[in-house]
Amino acid sequence: MNVHESEKIAGILRGLGYEETKTIENADIILFNTCCIRENAENHAFGNIGALKKMKKQNPNLLIAVGGCMTQEKGKTEILKKKFPFIDIMFGALNFENLAELIKRKKEQKKKVVEIRETAGEIVETIEPYRTSYPNAWVNITYGCDNFCSYCIVPYVRGRERSRKAENIIAEVQKLVNEGYKEITLLGQNVNSYGKDGNAGMNFAQLLDAVAQIEGKFRLRFMTSHPKDFTEEVVKVMEKHPKICKLVHLPVQSGSNRILQLMNRRYTREKYLDEIKFLKARLPQAEVTTDIIVGFPTETEEDYLQTEALVKEVDFASAFTFVYSPRQGTKASTMDGQIPETVQKDRIMRLVELVNTLTRQKSEKYIGKEVEILCEDYDEKKGLYLGRDELGRMGYFHSEKDCIGEFVTLKITKANGISLFGERVKK
Ligand code: 5AD
Ligand code: SF4
Repeated sequence: MNVHESEKIAGILRGLGYEETKTIENADIILFNTCCIRENAENHAFGNIGALKKMKKQNPNLLIAVGGCMTQEKGKTEILKKKFPFIDIMFGALNFENLAELIKRKKEQKKKVVEIRETAGEIVETIEPYRTSYPNAWVNITYGCDNFCSYCIVPYVRGRERSRKAENIIAEVQKLVNEGYKEITLLGQNVNSYGKDGNAGMNFAQLLDAVAQIEGKFRLRFMTSHPKDFTEEVVKVMEKHPKICKLVHLPVQSGSNRILQLMNRRYTREKYLDEIKFLKARLPQAEVTTDIIVGFPTETEEDYLQTEALVKEVDFASAFTFVYSPRQGTKASTMDGQIPETVQKDRIMRLVELVNTLTRQKSEKYIGKEVEILCEDYDEKKGLYLGRDELGRMGYFHSEKDCIGEFVTLKITKANGISLFGERVKK
C-alpha cells in the first residue's frame, strides 16, 4: 500500500521537474514516506532520517521531507521536530496530495512547513503515479479503514474508509492494460468492504467482475481480504474469470477464538475455516496466504497452539508472521496481560519454523511441473530472471534475452525454500 503511495508521491515530484538520482548525495530533495504499523518500522524511519543530519549540514539547500503514517500519529511531529530540527517539510498520510504546494511554500520561506490534516478530503484522481514495478501495477480501490482491530493503528492514521468510484478504477486498469502492464493488483485495507460507503456504485464482487472483463492478457489480483467480509459472491466471480489469480490473501491473525474476539476481528476460527472450505471446494487449485500475530495481550500457550493447529489445517501457501507490537492510542496497548518478550520470541520462532516447513513442502511439489511465470525482474547476483506464477510463487530461470513483462513457461527443476528454479520451455 505504502509502496504505491510512494509511486504517487514520486509522480508529484516528477510533475515539479525532479528526477530520480542514482546516489543520495546528488539529491535536491529526500523524502520519507513512513510507516508506523509496528514499532520496528518506526525505528527504521528514525534511523534513516537521523543519518541525514551531516548531509543537510554540508548542503543546506537539500530539502528533507517526511510524510506518511508516522507523521499522522498524534504528537509525532513534535517529537520529530525536536529530534531532527533539520527536517524542512512534514506532511501527513491524509494530505500527501498537497505536497507540490508544500514544497513551493518551503522554497518561499525559511521556516519549516508542517501540515497535517485530521481528516481526509475528497479522493484526488488527478495524480499520475510514477510506476516503478512494470509489469506489475497497483490500483487503489479504497483508502482508510473502519475496522478498528484492537491492535492496529491504521484506522487512526489513514482515516475512515473511502471507496473510489468504480468508473475511475475501471478506466485506470484499462489504461494500464493498454500501456502493457500484465499484472494488476486492486488494493485496499479491506477490499471486501468496497462500496459500503455508498460512493462507488458497486460492491467488491461486482467491481472485480467488471475489471476482469477488460480485454487483453493480464493477471488480476486483489488484497487485502478481511475474513469477516469475504463473500461467496467473490469466490464465484473468481471462478468465472481465468484472469483472476486463484490466490487469496486472507489474514487470520490468530487461531484462538478468545484472542480473535479481543482483537475485535469479528469472525471465529470456524467461520474462517468455512470460508477456506468454500473457496477450495469451488476452486481446488486455490491457495491462501495470511498474516499472523503472536504474543497478543493475554495469549496463552494454548491459544498459540490453536494458531499452529490452524496453520497446519489450512496449509497456507505462505504467511507473514509478526510479533505483537503495542501502538499508542489503540485499545490493545492498554490491555492487561502484555506478553513478555522472551515468550513472544519463542512463539514467533516456532511459528516461522512451521510456516517455512509447510512452504518448503509445497515448493517441492512443484519439481517436474510446468508453470507459467510472469517475468518481472533480473537478479544481478544470481544472473537469473525471476517472476511469479499465478499463485505467487517466485521462479528463477536463465534467459538469453530480456524477457521482463513476458509470460514464460518454466519446467521446475529445483526448489529452495519459497523459491523455485526452472528451465524455460519453448511454447
Ligand atoms: N503488531 C503486530 N502486527 C501488526 N499488524 C498490524 N498491526 C500490528 C501490530 N500492532 C499486522 C497484521 C496485519 C499486517 C498488515 O500487519 O497482521 O494484517
Ligand atoms: Fe488494521 Fe484491521 Fe484495518 Fe487491517 S482491517 S488495516 S488490521 S484495523
